[in-house]
Amino acid sequence: MKHALITGITGQDGAYLAKYLLNKGYRVFGTYRRLSTPNFWRLQYLGIFDEVELFPCDLMDSFSIIEALRLSRPDEVYNLAAQSFVGASFEQAIASGEITGLGVARLLEAIRLVTPEARFYQASTSEMFGDNRYDAQDENTPLEPSSPYAAAKLYAHHMLKIYRKGYGLYACNGILFNHESPLRGLEFVTRKITNAVAKIKLGLESHIELGNIDARRDWGYAPEYVEAMWLMLQQDTPDDYVVATNETHSVREFLQAAFSSAGLNWEDHVRISEKFLRPVEVRSLHGNYEKSARVLGWQPKVLFSDLVELMVREDLERWAQWNRGVHFPWDAWNYPNEKKILSRKVKFE
Ligand code: NAP
Ligand code: GDD
Repeated sequence: MKHALITGITGQDGAYLAKYLLNKGYRVFGTYRRLSTPNFWRLQYLGIFDEVELFPCDLMDSFSIIEALRLSRPDEVYNLAAQSFVGASFEQAIASGEITGLGVARLLEAIRLVTPEARFYQASTSEMFGDNRYDAQDENTPLEPSSPYAAAKLYAHHMLKIYRKGYGLYACNGILFNHESPLRGLEFVTRKITNAVAKIKLGLESHIELGNIDARRDWGYAPEYVEAMWLMLQQDTPDDYVVATNETHSVREFLQAAFSSAGLNWEDHVRISEKFLRPVEVRSLHGNYEKSARVLGWQPKVLFSDLVELMVREDLERWAQWNRGVHFPWDAWNYPNEKKILSRKVKFE
């Protein structure tokens, strides 16, 4: 039986990947951080909490990484752990560099020393293209990061290439464009919108505050993207791949589709707040996944309008259940909204 170790198993992709690998017959190990309140809701939501084996581990702590590798003896390691929120990386630039950048160097060093035969997947990102001037981005597009998060991911991306070349590790960068799902964190714009649509529809909230709604992203469906991660580690030679839908849509289009799928007009419920504007914005991402299609045989099936609809449907169903008093593992009831969170733009009198 193959062993897989997933860092960041408590996150959106970690939970879907764990489920995918369990279905393939893997023994799945995952790392989680020690938090004041444990955060296993996604694994419970997918019904796999009892099937995965968990280690406490933090990418800030090399010894905890070594212990996770030593105990799990993985054939494949998927590094999905990161401070993954671009907005927060402007507020916590140093911590983002430590976790999202240096954390990967710690992991590569640990793999080199403890399990050099293990195949390694790194969650690289389209955010590395930054506020670029290209119509569509692929594996050869220049990388010009526009956020502390992207700069940290770029460092990790290059460290992986150095370890692949220098030490012969089987290691792949998956340059994934945005991918969403009902398990997406509530701070990311898609889920922030679909969660708000559900609350507004049910009369629990009246409006939502957003930043730059002209930004464009290439949004795909997360459960399909974890399959591409696995495919990358099954090839004869390691390489880097773009995973995307080859479509780009604005946040405004997302709003329009999400509110109208619940029979609402988005313009009645959206306010723009400078609190959600970023110091540097990535205005447009649009991925060309031709290499993934050609080499991995991967292509997306769920595209923009189906994605928006399935996310709205599930958030509506959850809030309706909640109103009926049904309890289930879920994040939203515990996170009323972002109004209480101050930003650097707040001026104190
Ligand atoms: P996510 O839901 O935010 O999950 C991030 C995971 O990292 C969580 O399990 C989190 O643990 C863990 N983590 C955070 N800090 C850590 C630390 N210091 N040590 C160990 N673990 C830590 O992110 P996602 O959407 O699943 O994305 C997975 C990966 O793909 C991330 O690396 C992200 O940057 C990258 N990526 C995502 C997308 C996308 O559109 N989703 C696109 C490209 C790349 P807690 O649960 O304890 O917070
Ligand atoms: N989060 C958020 N909240 N974003 C907003 C808001 C808001 O209120 N209003 C407008 N936006 C805009 C952001 O400025 C950005 O241009 C776009 O919506 C998408 O923001 P996010 O959903 O936060 O995602 P992201 O593109 O910054 O980052 C995600 O995708 C990357 C891959 O391109 C994350 O998953 C990263 O981890 C990932 O690497």
